[in-house]
Amino acid sequence: MPFKFVCDTEHFPSGIMKRFDIDEVSIVIYHLADGFYATQCRCAHLLSPLNKGKILDGSKVQCRSHHAVFDIKSGKVVKWANFPPGIQILNFVRKEKDLKTFPTKVEDNNLYVVSVAEKKIRKKPK
Ligand code: FES
Repeated sequence: MPFKFVCDTEHFPSGIMKRFDIDEVSIVIYHLADGFYATQCRCAHLLSPLNKGKILDGSKVQCRSHHAVFDIKSGKVVKWANFPPGIQILNFVRKEKDLKTFPTKVEDNNLYVVSVAEKKIRKKPK
């Protein structure tokens, strides 16, 4: 499985997330207590950038737009969009959808993520 260099881990403290563009695809890398995890950057609801949201309970990410919550490690929906009140009407056409996740590895303080070029996720805007 081909991996791509992302960054060195020295300046990427635990408990934060950062956006990176790999193979012209935007992803978010999360540094959790037990390691690094990666998901697609765009929320599966209406495509807001998840790096603008927040990490909850050390293992979930909440989208800032309509508060959908995803498990960072599996990409599974924990809670679908529920903010502001009334957004649930839109959920009839925007059904629950998990995030794509990508394996990561660390070698010699260097962080790598599996090449995402072939994955069918939205490419970053030009
Ligand atoms: S865009 Fe993320 S919850 Fe709606």
